[in-house]
Amino acid sequence: MASTSLLIAVSVAVLVVSEAAPLTTTTTPECHSHAEATCHNTTTVFTVCMSDGKVYHNACSIMHALCDDHNLRPDYHSSNPACPHAVTRPTTTPLPVTHFETLLYPAIEHGIDDRLAASRDKGVAPKDALPIFSVQDHNHKHYVRNPDCWAADLDLTCISPWNSNGHTRKAGTLVSPRHAVWARHYNIPVNSTLRFVARDGTVVDRRITATRYVDAHGGSGFYGRDNVVGVLDRDVPASISYAKVMPHTLLTMHPPPNVHLPVMSTDFEEKALVTDFFLYSNRSISLRSPYTSSPRHDYYEPKITGDSGNPSFFIIDDELVLLFTFTSGGAGGGTNFIYHYDDINRIMTQLGGGYQLTEVDLSRFLGEGEVLPRIVG
Ligand SMILES: *[C@@H]1O[C@H](CO)[C@@H](O)[C@H](O)[C@H]1NC(C)=O
Ligand SMILES: *[C@@H]1O[C@H](CO)[C@@H](O)[C@H](O)[C@H]1NC(C)=O
Ligand SMILES: *[C@@H]1O[C@H](CO)[C@@H](O)[C@H](O)[C@H]1NC(C)=O
Repeated sequence: MASTSLLIAVSVAVLVVSEAAPLTTTTTPECHSHAEATCHNTTTVFTVCMSDGKVYHNACSIMHALCDDHNLRPDYHSSNPACPHAVTRPTTTPLPVTHFETLLYPAIEHGIDDRLAASRDKGVAPKDALPIFSVQDHNHKHYVRNPDCWAADLDLTCISPWNSNGHTRKAGTLVSPRHAVWARHYNIPVNSTLRFVARDGTVVDRRITATRYVDAHGGSGFYGRDNVVGVLDRDVPASISYAKVMPHTLLTMHPPPNVHLPVMSTDFEEKALVTDFFLYSNRSISLRSPYTSSPRHDYYEPKITGDSGNPSFFIIDDELVLLFTFTSGGAGGGTNFIYHYDDINRIMTQLGGGYQLTEVDLSRFLGEGEVLPRIVG
Protein backbone atom coordinates (compact mmCIF):
# COMPACT_ATOMS: atom_id res chain seq x y z
CA MET A 1 0.00 0.00 0.00
CA ALA A 2 2.71 2.47 1.00
CA SER A 3 4.80 1.55 -1.99
CA THR A 4 1.81 1.99 -4.31
CA SER A 5 1.03 5.52 -3.22
CA LEU A 6 4.71 6.41 -3.38
CA LEU A 7 4.87 5.10 -6.92
CA ILE A 8 1.88 7.21 -7.85
CA ALA A 9 3.46 10.30 -6.35
CA VAL A 10 6.73 9.77 -8.14
CA SER A 11 5.10 9.04 -11.46
CA VAL A 12 2.70 11.97 -11.31
CA ALA A 13 5.60 14.27 -10.62
CA VAL A 14 7.53 12.88 -13.56
CA LEU A 15 4.45 13.18 -15.76
CA VAL A 16 3.90 16.76 -14.76
CA VAL A 17 7.51 17.67 -15.33
CA SER A 18 7.68 16.01 -18.72
CA GLU A 19 4.27 17.17 -19.91
CA ALA A 20 5.11 20.71 -18.93
CA ALA A 21 8.23 20.81 -21.08
CA PRO A 22 6.74 22.54 -24.17
CA LEU A 23 5.49 25.35 -21.98
CA THR A 24 9.02 26.74 -22.01
CA THR A 25 8.20 28.28 -25.39
CA THR A 26 5.12 30.13 -24.14
CA THR A 27 4.86 33.25 -22.04
CA THR A 28 4.26 32.97 -18.32
CA PRO A 29 0.55 34.04 -18.40
CA GLU A 30 -0.10 31.57 -21.25
CA CYS A 31 1.70 28.90 -19.28
CA HIS A 32 -0.47 29.48 -16.21
CA SER A 33 -3.68 29.39 -18.23
CA HIS A 34 -2.54 26.20 -19.99
CA ALA A 35 -1.71 24.71 -16.60
CA GLU A 36 -5.14 25.71 -15.27
CA ALA A 37 -6.90 24.08 -18.24
CA THR A 38 -4.81 20.92 -18.01
CA CYS A 39 -4.74 20.30 -14.31
CA HIS A 40 -8.04 21.42 -12.84
CA ASN A 41 -9.55 17.92 -13.18
CA THR A 42 -6.54 16.18 -11.68
CA THR A 43 -7.42 15.52 -8.08
CA THR A 44 -4.81 12.91 -7.16
CA VAL A 45 -3.16 13.90 -3.89
CA PHE A 46 0.44 12.90 -3.29
CA THR A 47 3.63 14.21 -1.74
CA VAL A 48 6.69 15.03 -3.74
CA CYS A 49 9.59 17.35 -3.09
CA MET A 50 10.96 19.47 -5.87
CA SER A 51 14.34 21.02 -6.48
CA ASP A 52 13.13 24.35 -5.06
CA GLY A 53 13.02 22.67 -1.63
CA LYS A 54 9.22 22.91 -1.43
CA VAL A 55 6.82 20.04 -0.77
CA TYR A 56 4.00 19.66 -3.32
CA HIS A 57 0.78 17.72 -2.92
CA ASN A 58 -0.95 17.93 -6.29
CA ALA A 59 -0.19 18.18 -9.99
CA CYS A 60 -1.73 21.65 -10.32
CA SER A 61 0.60 23.35 -7.89
CA ILE A 62 3.60 21.73 -9.60
CA MET A 63 2.46 22.82 -13.05
CA HIS A 64 2.02 26.40 -11.89
CA ALA A 65 5.41 26.36 -10.18
CA LEU A 66 6.93 25.05 -13.42
CA CYS A 67 5.58 28.08 -15.28
CA ASP A 68 7.80 30.26 -13.10
CA ASP A 69 10.78 27.91 -13.00
CA HIS A 70 11.18 25.59 -15.97
CA ASN A 71 14.15 23.88 -14.37
CA LEU A 72 12.16 22.54 -11.44
CA ARG A 73 12.70 18.79 -11.04
CA PRO A 74 11.63 16.16 -8.50
CA ASP A 75 14.18 15.79 -5.72
CA TYR A 76 14.33 12.26 -4.40
CA HIS A 77 17.39 12.92 -2.26
CA SER A 78 16.00 15.68 -0.08
CA SER A 79 16.94 15.54 3.61
CA ASN A 80 13.42 16.71 4.55
CA PRO A 81 11.82 13.70 6.31
CA ALA A 82 8.44 14.65 4.77
CA CYS A 83 9.84 13.92 1.29
CA PRO A 84 9.47 10.48 -0.26
CA HIS A 85 12.59 8.99 -1.77
CA ALA A 86 12.97 7.11 -5.02
CA VAL A 87 10.78 4.05 -5.27
CA THR A 88 12.35 0.99 -3.80
CA ARG A 89 11.24 -2.60 -3.81
CA PRO A 90 9.09 -3.09 -0.70
CA THR A 91 10.79 -6.29 0.40
CA THR A 92 14.53 -6.16 0.84
CA THR A 93 14.88 -9.93 0.79
CA PRO A 94 14.06 -11.21 -2.68
CA LEU A 95 11.67 -14.13 -2.69
CA PRO A 96 12.99 -17.33 -4.20
CA VAL A 97 12.52 -17.41 -7.96
CA THR A 98 9.89 -20.00 -8.88
CA HIS A 99 10.17 -22.59 -11.62
CA PHE A 100 7.73 -20.54 -13.71
CA GLU A 101 9.92 -17.44 -13.33
CA THR A 102 13.10 -19.29 -14.27
CA LEU A 103 11.46 -20.09 -17.61
CA LEU A 104 9.46 -16.89 -18.19
CA TYR A 105 12.20 -14.32 -17.49
CA PRO A 106 14.71 -15.67 -20.03
CA ALA A 107 11.98 -15.87 -22.67
CA ILE A 108 11.20 -12.17 -22.15
CA GLU A 109 14.94 -11.32 -22.18
CA HIS A 110 15.65 -13.26 -25.37
CA GLY A 111 12.67 -11.65 -27.15
CA ILE A 112 14.56 -8.36 -27.27
CA ASP A 113 18.22 -8.98 -26.33
CA ASP A 114 18.75 -11.57 -29.09
CA ARG A 115 17.39 -9.16 -31.67
CA LEU A 116 19.62 -6.32 -30.45
CA ALA A 117 22.63 -8.66 -30.60
CA ALA A 118 21.72 -9.77 -34.14
CA SER A 119 21.34 -6.15 -35.20
CA ARG A 120 24.77 -5.25 -33.78
CA ASP A 121 26.29 -8.33 -35.44
CA LYS A 122 24.94 -7.08 -38.77
CA GLY A 123 26.88 -3.87 -38.13
CA VAL A 124 23.80 -1.66 -37.77
CA ALA A 125 24.46 1.34 -35.54
CA PRO A 126 21.85 1.61 -32.74
CA LYS A 127 20.56 4.94 -34.02
CA ASP A 128 19.87 3.35 -37.43
CA ALA A 129 18.20 0.34 -35.79
CA LEU A 130 15.62 2.42 -33.90
CA PRO A 131 13.27 3.77 -36.63
CA ILE A 132 10.46 1.34 -37.51
CA PHE A 133 9.97 3.15 -40.82
CA SER A 134 12.58 4.48 -43.24
CA VAL A 135 9.87 6.54 -44.97
CA GLN A 136 6.81 8.04 -43.22
CA ASP A 137 5.01 10.37 -45.63
CA HIS A 138 1.71 10.84 -43.84
CA ASN A 139 0.30 13.27 -46.41
CA HIS A 140 0.84 10.91 -49.35
CA LYS A 141 0.11 7.77 -47.30
CA HIS A 142 3.50 6.38 -48.24
CA TYR A 143 5.30 4.22 -45.68
CA VAL A 144 8.35 2.00 -46.03
CA ARG A 145 9.43 -0.23 -43.13
CA ASN A 146 13.08 0.06 -42.13
CA PRO A 147 14.77 -3.30 -42.83
CA ASP A 148 17.53 -2.29 -40.37
CA CYS A 149 15.14 -1.83 -37.45
CA TRP A 150 16.18 -4.34 -34.75
CA ALA A 151 12.50 -5.33 -34.46
CA ALA A 152 11.88 -5.53 -38.22
CA ASP A 153 11.12 -9.26 -38.18
CA LEU A 154 8.31 -8.78 -35.65
CA ASP A 155 4.74 -8.04 -36.66
CA LEU A 156 4.43 -4.39 -35.53
CA THR A 157 1.28 -3.66 -37.54
CA CYS A 158 -0.95 -3.20 -34.45
CA ILE A 159 0.86 0.10 -33.72
CA SER A 160 -0.69 3.18 -35.33
CA PRO A 161 1.89 5.70 -36.64
CA TRP A 162 -0.63 8.48 -37.40
CA ASN A 163 -4.16 9.70 -36.69
CA SER A 164 -6.11 12.62 -38.10
CA ASN A 165 -6.38 14.33 -34.69
CA GLY A 166 -2.92 14.31 -33.12
CA HIS A 167 -1.10 13.31 -36.33
CA THR A 168 2.11 11.60 -35.10
CA ARG A 169 1.05 12.22 -31.46
CA LYS A 170 -1.37 10.22 -29.29
CA ALA A 171 -0.70 6.84 -30.94
CA GLY A 172 -3.33 4.06 -30.74
CA THR A 173 -2.74 0.32 -30.53
CA LEU A 174 -5.04 -2.48 -31.68
CA VAL A 175 -6.12 -5.05 -29.09
CA SER A 176 -8.58 -6.71 -31.51
CA PRO A 177 -9.32 -6.36 -35.24
CA ARG A 178 -11.87 -3.71 -34.25
CA HIS A 179 -10.70 -2.10 -30.98
CA ALA A 180 -7.76 0.15 -30.17
CA VAL A 181 -6.49 1.69 -26.93
CA TRP A 182 -4.69 4.94 -26.15
CA ALA A 183 -4.26 7.43 -23.28
CA ARG A 184 -7.16 9.22 -21.64
CA HIS A 185 -5.12 12.35 -20.89
CA TYR A 186 -4.24 12.47 -24.60
CA ASN A 187 -7.56 11.39 -26.08
CA ILE A 188 -8.35 10.93 -29.77
CA PRO A 189 -11.94 12.04 -30.42
CA VAL A 190 -14.71 10.14 -32.18
CA ASN A 191 -14.66 10.47 -35.99
CA SER A 192 -10.88 10.77 -36.11
CA THR A 193 -9.08 8.46 -38.51
CA LEU A 194 -6.69 5.93 -37.02
CA ARG A 195 -4.06 4.66 -39.45
CA PHE A 196 -2.32 1.29 -39.60
CA VAL A 197 0.32 0.10 -42.03
CA ALA A 198 0.58 -3.52 -43.21
CA ARG A 199 4.00 -5.15 -43.44
CA ASP A 200 4.10 -4.48 -47.20
CA GLY A 201 3.34 -0.77 -46.67
CA THR A 202 -0.39 -0.92 -47.52
CA VAL A 203 -2.20 1.80 -45.57
CA VAL A 204 -5.35 0.86 -43.63
CA ASP A 205 -7.35 3.86 -42.38
CA ARG A 206 -10.31 3.37 -40.05
CA ARG A 207 -12.70 5.85 -38.44
CA ILE A 208 -13.18 5.79 -34.68
CA THR A 209 -16.94 5.52 -34.14
CA ALA A 210 -17.13 5.47 -30.33
CA THR A 211 -14.81 5.66 -27.31
CA ARG A 212 -15.07 4.92 -23.58
CA TYR A 213 -12.79 5.79 -20.70
CA VAL A 214 -11.64 2.86 -18.62
CA ASP A 215 -12.97 3.09 -15.04
CA ALA A 216 -15.05 6.09 -16.14
CA HIS A 217 -16.83 6.35 -12.77
CA GLY A 218 -13.72 5.84 -10.67
CA GLY A 219 -13.05 9.54 -10.10
CA SER A 220 -12.12 12.64 -12.03
CA GLY A 221 -8.34 12.17 -12.15
CA PHE A 222 -6.81 10.10 -14.90
CA TYR A 223 -3.91 8.60 -13.00
CA GLY A 224 -4.40 4.82 -12.72
CA ARG A 225 -7.20 4.98 -15.28
CA ASP A 226 -5.37 6.59 -18.18
CA ASN A 227 -6.85 4.34 -20.87
CA VAL A 228 -9.40 4.85 -23.60
CA VAL A 229 -10.90 2.04 -25.64
CA GLY A 230 -12.12 3.00 -29.12
CA VAL A 231 -14.09 1.00 -31.65
CA LEU A 232 -13.43 1.31 -35.39
CA ASP A 233 -16.02 1.56 -38.16
CA ARG A 234 -15.03 -1.92 -39.37
CA ASP A 235 -12.46 -4.62 -38.79
CA VAL A 236 -8.91 -4.19 -40.02
CA PRO A 237 -7.87 -6.86 -42.57
CA ALA A 238 -5.78 -9.87 -41.56
CA SER A 239 -2.66 -8.03 -42.79
CA ILE A 240 -2.91 -5.90 -39.62
CA SER A 241 -2.33 -7.65 -36.29
CA TYR A 242 -3.54 -6.86 -32.80
CA ALA A 243 -1.63 -7.09 -29.52
CA LYS A 244 -2.21 -9.71 -26.88
CA VAL A 245 -2.13 -8.83 -23.17
CA MET A 246 -0.74 -10.56 -20.08
CA PRO A 247 -2.97 -13.21 -18.45
CA HIS A 248 -5.54 -11.33 -16.36
CA THR A 249 -4.94 -13.57 -13.35
CA LEU A 250 -1.29 -12.49 -13.20
CA LEU A 251 -2.09 -9.42 -11.11
CA THR A 252 1.35 -8.40 -9.91
CA MET A 253 4.69 -8.69 -11.64
CA HIS A 254 7.66 -7.50 -9.67
CA PRO A 255 10.86 -9.32 -10.64
CA PRO A 256 13.75 -9.40 -8.16
CA PRO A 257 16.18 -6.46 -8.36
CA ASN A 258 18.80 -8.43 -10.29
CA VAL A 259 16.31 -9.42 -13.01
CA HIS A 260 16.11 -6.76 -15.69
CA LEU A 261 13.45 -7.57 -18.25
CA PRO A 262 13.48 -5.58 -21.49
CA VAL A 263 10.39 -3.84 -22.85
CA MET A 264 9.87 -2.46 -26.37
CA SER A 265 8.06 0.88 -26.56
CA THR A 266 7.36 3.24 -29.41
CA ASP A 267 7.58 7.02 -29.25
CA PHE A 268 5.86 9.61 -31.39
CA GLU A 269 8.56 9.33 -34.06
CA GLU A 270 7.87 5.56 -34.31
CA LYS A 271 11.20 4.45 -32.92
CA ALA A 272 11.46 1.00 -31.34
CA LEU A 273 12.93 1.98 -27.97
CA VAL A 274 14.15 -0.43 -25.31
CA THR A 275 13.62 0.17 -21.60
CA ASP A 276 13.86 -2.08 -18.54
CA PHE A 277 10.67 -3.25 -16.88
CA PHE A 278 10.37 -2.30 -13.22
CA LEU A 279 7.03 -3.58 -11.95
CA TYR A 280 3.33 -3.65 -12.35
CA SER A 281 1.07 -3.83 -9.34
CA ASN A 282 -2.48 -2.68 -8.81
CA ARG A 283 -3.14 0.17 -11.27
CA SER A 284 0.44 1.24 -11.83
CA ILE A 285 3.15 0.03 -14.11
CA SER A 286 6.57 1.54 -14.47
CA LEU A 287 9.78 1.11 -16.39
CA ARG A 288 13.33 2.04 -15.45
CA SER A 289 16.29 3.14 -17.49
CA PRO A 290 18.68 0.31 -18.47
CA TYR A 291 22.12 0.42 -16.85
CA THR A 292 24.47 2.53 -18.94
CA SER A 293 26.74 -0.54 -19.14
CA SER A 294 23.92 -2.59 -20.70
CA PRO A 295 23.78 -2.93 -24.50
CA ARG A 296 20.10 -2.04 -24.15
CA HIS A 297 21.08 1.47 -23.12
CA ASP A 298 22.11 2.28 -26.71
CA TYR A 299 18.46 1.71 -27.70
CA TYR A 300 16.99 3.66 -24.79
CA GLU A 301 15.62 7.19 -24.76
CA PRO A 302 13.68 8.99 -22.02
CA LYS A 303 10.02 9.45 -22.93
CA ILE A 304 9.09 13.05 -23.59
CA THR A 305 6.03 15.16 -24.21
CA GLY A 306 4.23 13.81 -27.27
CA ASP A 307 5.08 10.19 -26.49
CA SER A 308 1.99 9.80 -24.27
CA GLY A 309 -0.38 7.10 -25.48
CA ASN A 310 2.40 5.11 -27.16
CA PRO A 311 2.46 1.41 -26.26
CA SER A 312 4.98 -0.74 -24.35
CA PHE A 313 5.28 -4.47 -24.88
CA PHE A 314 7.03 -7.58 -23.66
CA ILE A 315 8.12 -9.69 -26.60
CA ILE A 316 7.32 -13.31 -25.79
CA ASP A 317 7.62 -16.04 -28.43
CA ASP A 318 8.00 -13.41 -31.17
CA GLU A 319 4.69 -11.82 -30.20
CA LEU A 320 3.90 -8.35 -28.87
CA VAL A 321 2.27 -8.45 -25.43
CA LEU A 322 0.84 -5.03 -24.57
CA LEU A 323 1.53 -3.86 -21.01
CA PHE A 324 0.39 -0.22 -21.00
CA THR A 325 0.40 3.06 -22.88
CA PHE A 326 2.51 5.98 -21.61
CA THR A 327 1.18 8.39 -19.04
CA SER A 328 4.45 9.55 -17.54
CA GLY A 329 7.85 10.41 -18.94
CA GLY A 330 11.41 9.60 -18.07
CA ALA A 331 11.83 5.84 -18.31
CA GLY A 332 8.05 5.87 -18.52
CA GLY A 333 5.00 4.58 -16.72
CA GLY A 334 1.26 4.33 -17.00
CA THR A 335 -1.87 2.39 -16.20
CA ASN A 336 -1.58 -1.36 -15.89
CA PHE A 337 -3.96 -2.95 -18.43
CA ILE A 338 -4.38 -6.08 -16.38
CA TYR A 339 -5.89 -4.14 -13.48
CA HIS A 340 -8.68 -3.01 -15.83
CA TYR A 341 -8.94 -6.26 -17.79
CA ASP A 342 -12.61 -6.92 -16.97
CA ASP A 343 -13.56 -3.29 -17.51
CA ILE A 344 -11.86 -3.22 -20.90
CA ASN A 345 -13.65 -6.41 -21.98
CA ARG A 346 -16.95 -4.97 -20.76
CA ILE A 347 -16.33 -1.78 -22.76
CA MET A 348 -15.42 -3.84 -25.84
CA THR A 349 -18.78 -5.62 -25.51
CA GLN A 350 -20.63 -2.30 -25.06
CA LEU A 351 -18.93 -0.74 -28.06
CA GLY A 352 -19.74 -3.76 -30.21
CA GLY A 353 -17.63 -5.51 -32.80
CA GLY A 354 -17.68 -8.97 -31.25
CA TYR A 355 -14.18 -9.16 -29.78
CA GLN A 356 -12.52 -9.39 -26.38
CA LEU A 357 -8.90 -9.04 -25.24
CA THR A 358 -6.63 -11.98 -26.06
CA GLU A 359 -4.27 -13.22 -23.36
CA VAL A 360 -0.80 -14.48 -24.19
CA ASP A 361 -0.49 -18.19 -23.49
CA LEU A 362 2.22 -18.67 -20.86
CA SER A 363 1.37 -22.32 -20.18
CA ARG A 364 4.59 -23.53 -21.77
CA PHE A 365 6.48 -21.98 -18.84
CA LEU A 366 4.48 -24.03 -16.32
CA GLY A 367 5.68 -27.38 -15.07
CA GLU A 368 3.53 -30.47 -14.78
CA GLY A 369 0.54 -29.73 -12.54
CA GLU A 370 1.53 -26.05 -11.97
CA VAL A 371 -1.04 -23.29 -12.39
CA LEU A 372 -0.36 -19.72 -13.43
CA PRO A 373 0.61 -17.67 -10.34
CA ARG A 374 -1.20 -14.47 -9.44
CA ILE A 375 2.00 -12.78 -8.33
CA VAL A 376 5.39 -13.04 -9.99
CA GLY A 377 8.54 -11.79 -8.31
C1 LIG B 1 -13.10 18.41 -16.57
O1 LIG B 1 -14.10 18.95 -15.72
C2 LIG B 1 -15.08 19.72 -16.41
C3 LIG B 1 -16.05 20.32 -15.39
O2 LIG B 1 -15.59 20.17 -14.10
C4 LIG B 1 -15.82 18.83 -17.42
O3 LIG B 1 -16.74 19.58 -18.16
C5 LIG B 1 -14.81 18.21 -18.38
O4 LIG B 1 -15.45 17.29 -19.24
C6 LIG B 1 -13.71 17.48 -17.60
N1 LIG B 1 -12.71 17.01 -18.54
C7 LIG B 1 -12.27 15.76 -18.53
C8 LIG B 1 -11.21 15.44 -19.56
O5 LIG B 1 -12.64 14.92 -17.73
C1 LIG C 1 -19.28 12.01 -36.39
O1 LIG C 1 -19.64 12.11 -37.75
C2 LIG C 1 -21.02 11.82 -37.97
C3 LIG C 1 -21.25 11.78 -39.50
O2 LIG C 1 -20.68 12.89 -40.11
C4 LIG C 1 -21.87 12.87 -37.29
O3 LIG C 1 -23.24 12.58 -37.47
C5 LIG C 1 -21.55 12.84 -35.79
O4 LIG C 1 -22.25 13.88 -35.14
C6 LIG C 1 -20.07 12.99 -35.55
N1 LIG C 1 -19.80 12.77 -34.14
C7 LIG C 1 -19.02 13.56 -33.42
C8 LIG C 1 -18.89 13.25 -31.98
O5 LIG C 1 -18.44 14.51 -33.91
C1 LIG D 1 -5.24 -0.30 -5.56
O1 LIG D 1 -4.86 1.04 -5.27
C2 LIG D 1 -5.95 1.85 -4.84
C3 LIG D 1 -5.45 3.26 -4.75
O2 LIG D 1 -4.27 3.35 -4.01
C4 LIG D 1 -6.46 1.29 -3.50
O3 LIG D 1 -7.54 2.07 -3.06
C5 LIG D 1 -6.90 -0.14 -3.71
O4 LIG D 1 -7.28 -0.71 -2.48
C6 LIG D 1 -5.80 -0.99 -4.33
N1 LIG D 1 -6.34 -2.28 -4.67
C7 LIG D 1 -5.71 -3.42 -4.38
C8 LIG D 1 -6.37 -4.66 -4.85
O5 LIG D 1 -4.64 -3.43 -3.79
